Amino acid sequence: PRPILLTRHGESRDNVRGRIGGDSVLSDTGEIYMKKLANFVEKRLKSERTASIWTSTLQRTILTASPIVGFPKIQWRALDEINAGVCDGMTYEEIKKNMPEEYESRKKDKLRYRYPRGESYLDVIQRLEPVIIELERQRAPVVVISHQAVLRALYAYFADRPLKEIPHIEWRKKTESYLSFST
Ligand code: G3H
Repeated sequence: PRPILLTRHGESRDNVRGRIGGDSVLSDTGEIYMKKLANFVEKRLKSERTASIWTSTLQRTILTASPIVGFPKIQWRALDEINAGVCDGMTYEEIKKNMPEEYESRKKDKLRYRYPRGESYLDVIQRLEPVIIELERQRAPVVVISHQAVLRALYAYFADRPLKEIPHIEWRKKTESYLSFST
């Protein structure tokens, strides 16, 4: 069996401020995770001759991958976080206060809700299709370092979870764990 490891980026500075989206660097806690992950990956994949590290095009995933050496790294735009459109850079409290109708519609149907000028979970699921095809095709181990919304969708695909569960899967709490699937 060949492993697929799914992990979120280390905590970012925007995560600390509660801001969604953006392209910030890692917090101190995020840097600790970055180092732990590099140790883990190097140990776990030591005996593998071919493996690759896939990140999004956002700094927080690229930085999280940075201390991992010896494996090729590939950046995928399709692994970028859900695009929050006009809400990018806001906190959930700010959205609730300044755009209460948007906040409520998202709460009602988080799977289908599309941020104005941004994406819905369904959009994210759709854009992940080429990533999933490539993940299935690879014979070597892959470490995917991405974002909460994207990881929820990838996890649901490999763990065979229903569509409606995807936006509600707890991922933040899994930050310190590396989910692993074998195909
Ligand atoms: O910044 C976006 C979050 O990672 C996605 O979380 O879909 O639960 O708001 P959410």
